[in-house]
Amino acid sequence: MPVHDMKKTIHASATDQADGLRRQHARRPVKVITVTGGKGGVGKTNICANLAVALSMLGRRVMLLDADLGLANVDVMFGLQPHYNLADVVRGERKLQDVIVNGPAGVMVVPGASGLSDMADLTPAHHAGIIHAFSELTHDLDTLLVDTAAGISDGVLRFAEAAHEVLVVVCDEPTSITDAYAIIKLLSTERGVSRFRIVTNMTRQGGDGSGLFEKLVRVTDRFLKVTLDHAGSIPFDDRVWRAVQLQTPFVTAFPTSLAAGALKKLAHRADKWEVPQNARGNIEFFVERFLNGTTIAEHEVA
Ligand SMILES: Nc1ncnc2c1ncn2[C@@H]1O[C@H](COP(=O)(O)OP(=O)(O)OP(=O)(O)O)[C@@H](O)[C@H]1O
Ligand SMILES: [Mg+2]
Repeated sequence: MPVHDMKKTIHASATDQADGLRRQHARRPVKVITVTGGKGGVGKTNICANLAVALSMLGRRVMLLDADLGLANVDVMFGLQPHYNLADVVRGERKLQDVIVNGPAGVMVVPGASGLSDMADLTPAHHAGIIHAFSELTHDLDTLLVDTAAGISDGVLRFAEAAHEVLVVVCDEPTSITDAYAIIKLLSTERGVSRFRIVTNMTRQGGDGSGLFEKLVRVTDRFLKVTLDHAGSIPFDDRVWRAVQLQTPFVTAFPTSLAAGALKKLAHRADKWEVPQNARGNIEFFVERFLNGTTIAEHEVA
């Protein structure tokens, strides 16, 4: 069979399968939130992981996908020792079911595939494998949180554009602000994302992050057609760092800390974000949308 036909077949069968499962389950959409920020070390993983735990403590069924494919570290942050990770699923050697580990407060964690540095390297067969893996998932979920790598790679953009909510973490440093702006610009001008939830992190001296948020709004308002919502502000707090050393989320290790209080507020807000009525937001669809971002044609050209 010519290569392009084979690729079409793989794609078609994966899509049919996802369609079938969608009809069978017809579940409520899963709210998908991708956490990003551009710059490294701004607190994406800490916020994503603690938000997952805080939402779970509110009674939601939460899955956390570690999509930092280069330096995955949600499992380290949670003190988990997974036997398998997303790479095993991608290679078709494990079912997603076998890879998921139970994290704190019942958060279901899909450990990241350290070493799979670029999703764009995946072949159509790998893509079909991931769709298949997610479509077989029987867990009834409320929220899927996706932690992304630093930088603005195509993979990061795809995880963001496929989500219902893009949460951008920013701190008060020129490089963080320019990186946040750059990712918002790319997502809005090239990927059709127009609303962003901003979390100001490591704010100092009782500041509520509003000054930093305004700085970002001033540039986006000038050059882009986007809506930014200040979803939360997490103060600089030594206990965030201490919790990382303890490999425990700070919301449970230091529940009365300022950071935990602020994070819980963010969780309450995020919990109220509505998934659009018409959203085909189940997990299979998220994965399809993600994978369709790298059209198979791109691989054919490559
Ligand atoms: N609010 C905070 N107060 C104090 N320290 C913080 C806060 N948020 C994050 N940190 C610290 O900043 C460091 C980086 O955090 P984290 O790993 O979450 O960032 P990241 O954006 O995911 O980084 P990367 O881009 O490398 O994935 C950690 O040492 C963490 O303890
Ligand atoms: Mg990280």
